[in-house]
Amino acid sequence: MVADIARVLYHESTILSRLDEMAHQITSDYADKELTVVSILNGSFIFMADLLRRVPLPLQIDSWSVSSYHGTKSRGQIQFRQQTIADVRGRHVLLLDDILDSGLTLRAIQERLATESGAASIRSCVLLRKSVTRETAIDADYIGFDIPNEFVVGYGLDYNEQYRNLPYIGVLKEEAIRRHAR
Ligand code: XMP
Repeated sequence: MVADIARVLYHESTILSRLDEMAHQITSDYADKELTVVSILNGSFIFMADLLRRVPLPLQIDSWSVSSYHGTKSRGQIQFRQQTIADVRGRHVLLLDDILDSGLTLRAIQERLATESGAASIRSCVLLRKSVTRETAIDADYIGFDIPNEFVVGYGLDYNEQYRNLPYIGVLKEEAIRRHAR
């Protein structure tokens, strides 16, 4: 697994330091608000666990399972794996996602929440933002790190469901991408 990583972008200690800063900001912004955090699975499960343990607010947590990727390319179409969403009427929703790439995933989720949920506000928080020309005009409100346009894995991010348990974020070698390609 480690041999498939071309280079480490962020070690765990660096990620956790950045999460301290993000959590501080989120805690201050939502101090007097009814907050529901909606995390987008599977990629954000480690990010969610580490970030939210640093946010000492009485928040609620929901998770949505969606898929948009096939291999290293976005399919451009978001599939929601569940039909119902938590009741967030009148609450402030913070979406958590692992990475903002084309932006299609975040846009689809924000649109669904905006039309179906009755939330008081909807904002988003991503651990990584890829420097690409996005297919849709969308940005996140909280961003952990800006990264180059390379395929990254680890700390929850996968390639064909592998590498999620790496404790750091690294760029996957081209040969590993080819080897796993279906
Ligand atoms: P979009 O393109 O909709 O993508 O913004 C968001 C989802 O795509 C996955 N994604 C990646 N997964 N390494 C990964 O392991 C990457 O470099 C990468 N880029 C996008 C991810 O699941 C994200 O939520």
